[in-house]
Amino acid sequence: MANLNGKIALVTGASSGIGAATAVKLAEAGAKVGIAARRTKKLEDLKKRIKAKGGEALVIEMDVVDPTAIETGVKKLVETYGSIDILVNNAGLMPLSDIDQFKVDEWHRMVDVNVKGLLNTTAAVLPQMIKQHSGHIFNMSSIAGRKVFKGLSVYCATKHAVTAFSDGLRMEVGQKHNIRVTCIQPGAVATELYDHITDPGYRKQMDELAGQMTFLQGEDIGDTIVFAAQAPAHVDVAELFVLPVEQGW
Ligand SMILES: NC(=O)c1ccc[n+]([C@@H]2O[C@H](COP(=O)([O-])OP(=O)(O)OC[C@H]3O[C@@H](n4cnc5c(N)ncnc54)[C@H](OP(=O)(O)O)[C@@H]3O)[C@@H](O)[C@H]2O)c1
Repeated sequence: MANLNGKIALVTGASSGIGAATAVKLAEAGAKVGIAARRTKKLEDLKKRIKAKGGEALVIEMDVVDPTAIETGVKKLVETYGSIDILVNNAGLMPLSDIDQFKVDEWHRMVDVNVKGLLNTTAAVLPQMIKQHSGHIFNMSSIAGRKVFKGLSVYCATKHAVTAFSDGLRMEVGQKHNIRVTCIQPGAVATELYDHITDPGYRKQMDELAGQMTFLQGEDIGDTIVFAAQAPAHVDVAELFVLPVEQGW
């Protein structure tokens, strides 16, 4: 296994949960990390945590729905550190509800962030990786990108899109441009994800779930990302399906 010394990473959705933990893990492995999200105060706090451990991080204010903000952020990262070797497309949200509640704004928001945001960021970073003839893109799918669950129809649709896109991207950029693609599919992880559920029934259900099993921590997913990033250069860990032992579904 190689360490990540000298590698430059960009993590979207780095202000909390899986993204923040992954940024710390990448920095601990030696990468310099662009930490991107909308809540810059949280990013500044994360930068301090990374620096305190001897790592290096650059705060990037970025809404993945805004292609101009992404272009600016990617440019800032490349100007500061010189390249982008690892992209973690992690930003996402999961406001659960039944379809017949017609929370159409939430459906659109999930498509905009989980799918279009990921495509926007990939489009902004890929030219740099093609120029370098190397890179590694991690796309945050989910168990919901493999199976469908009631109340998660739109979320599952977005995560199935991420899984499908990841496999196609791998086929298109691996051999041609020497870029690796890894699709991460976590089960239940203890993060802020459930805080955005506006339906009281589903919110209660998710709170109860946390009492039924030991959830993964963001750090567990960060470890799997570092594992795949450290694989020898000819190896692409294409998919990682990571679950709590007690998750019986
Ligand atoms: N937790 C789980 O059980 C679980 C399981 C499988 C997959 N996932 C996936 O893991 C990813 C991270 O979620 P999490 O669980 O760590 O939840 P989280 O703590 O709520 O983190 C979500 C992150 O996404 C960012 N984000 C949301 N909208 C954004 C936007 N428009 N532009 C830029 N960033 C945005 C948030 O940052 P700002 O609000 O500061 O912008 C935040 O940093 C998501 O894609 C989620 O679907 C989570």
